[in-house]
Amino acid sequence: SVYPDAKIASVDVAQRIASLIRAKQREGGQVVLGLATGSTPIYVYEELVRLHREEGLSFRNVVSFNLDEYFPMQPDSRQSYVAFMKEHLFDHIDIDPENVHIPDGTLPKENIESYCLAYENKIATLGGIDIQLLGIGRTGHIGFNEPGATRDSKTRLVELNDLTLRDAAATFGGKEYVPTEAITMGIDTILAARKIILMAWGKGKAEIVKKTLESEITEEIPATFLKTTEHVEFVLDNGAASSL
Ligand code: GLP
Repeated sequence: SVYPDAKIASVDVAQRIASLIRAKQREGGQVVLGLATGSTPIYVYEELVRLHREEGLSFRNVVSFNLDEYFPMQPDSRQSYVAFMKEHLFDHIDIDPENVHIPDGTLPKENIESYCLAYENKIATLGGIDIQLLGIGRTGHIGFNEPGATRDSKTRLVELNDLTLRDAAATFGGKEYVPTEAITMGIDTILAARKIILMAWGKGKAEIVKKTLESEITEEIPATFLKTTEHVEFVLDNGAASSL
């Protein structure tokens, strides 16, 4: 769906998340959210924080799994996705810190494989992800699944694409300071979610949005794998939809 602007779209996405949280609360159940970082989901988190503060929305029954984290990365580093999630969401809501999961960028390399397997197992044990939020990178990545990522990929350590490093350079004060690797949920992990909402805002995303929607399904544009499932929704603003 195309919305007049990112804020209106984000409020709508946040309200849908809130409805699910409330519905599950009434039946005493949990909600598993798959969360994304980057500038794209910021307004959604803003609205969720507002709903918590002003309308008493509680996150006590929410379990969250973030898509990705740079590697290596210290959680207390300013550029970490842990810091991002705290700043934009977790520090302002009542989610139980024990229910928050973000890939660990501090692990010794030899432990990553078993860590990633455990991450997958935790999601599965909780019954899978109810709603997965996604942004899209200019390479067509979702999470950090760069071109070449396979349909059956799971949570794992990956190398970042050069365009991704360049896009992250400003945040890190220079491309040479951007970690060249990341831990990310895989394409298969993402597609297993019961509902996937990919958001894209602004003209800067128009080209990759067009490519994703119009191209055949290909590893060269990992976001095209989303088109293989029914339960995905592309939420765009006018800018991101401007080349369609
Ligand atoms: C990062 C994240 C992605 C995100 C993408 C787009 O690399 N790992 O999950 O979707 O960039 O970022 P932005 O939302 O800032 O455009």
